[in-house]
Amino acid sequence: MIIAVDGPAAAGKGTLARRLAAELGFAHLDTGRIYRAVAAKVLAAGRDTRDAAAAVRAAGSLKPEDLERGDLRREEVGQGASVVAAVPEVRAALLAFQRRFAEHPPGGQAGAVLDGRDIGTVVCPGAEVKFYVTASPEIRAGRRHKELLEGGERSIYARVLQEVRDRDARDSGREAAPLRPAEDAVVLDTTEMNADAVLATALGHILSRHPAIRP
Ligand code: DC
Repeated sequence: MIIAVDGPAAAGKGTLARRLAAELGFAHLDTGRIYRAVAAKVLAAGRDTRDAAAAVRAAGSLKPEDLERGDLRREEVGQGASVVAAVPEVRAALLAFQRRFAEHPPGGQAGAVLDGRDIGTVVCPGAEVKFYVTASPEIRAGRRHKELLEGGERSIYARVLQEVRDRDARDSGREAAPLRPAEDAVVLDTTEMNADAVLATALGHILSRHPAIRP
């Protein structure tokens, strides 16, 4: 069974996907990490993430250990990931790995939860369950700002909000696999929901549609 969780930056899709996988005993793949790893490799090679040829080379030579780099959560890497993700050859190079993970989860688990931008529309259009997790840009920026401050980083709310808006525009406006809800996705607007409520709503939906599943 494949569960697709898509949505814009900082909407809570990563948290939902991780918790769903833990509840259901499924494997979890954060596909944003793969794009971040490509961007981090380009930056580490001293290149600009707008250098499409460098991005394609980095995507083609990606290794499992690249996904474990310590710098993947940095904002510069997130913005760079959104830039390299607009290059169709980069997306094509990463597609087979994501599909293999979804169809044959490592460890032989009974299912997989993938989170990203195009899981329900492109990577796994046949996924049994699809969620589109979203929230207003102000709420998403507020959550990200709080996380950064709590992590001991310096952060300015207005700047975080601008970064969220920039990333939304780039991820939704690109031609290759733009961010949008799949037609059969359940939209979860988390503007007024905490992470526990989002998990309970999503689990309720899964269990009502697939009663054989036991958390
Ligand atoms: O989910 P995230 O913030 O870690 O993702 C970083 C960037 O990677 C995001 O801005 C766009 C890109 N991305 C994508 O294009 N497709 C995916 N399935 C996942 C991420």
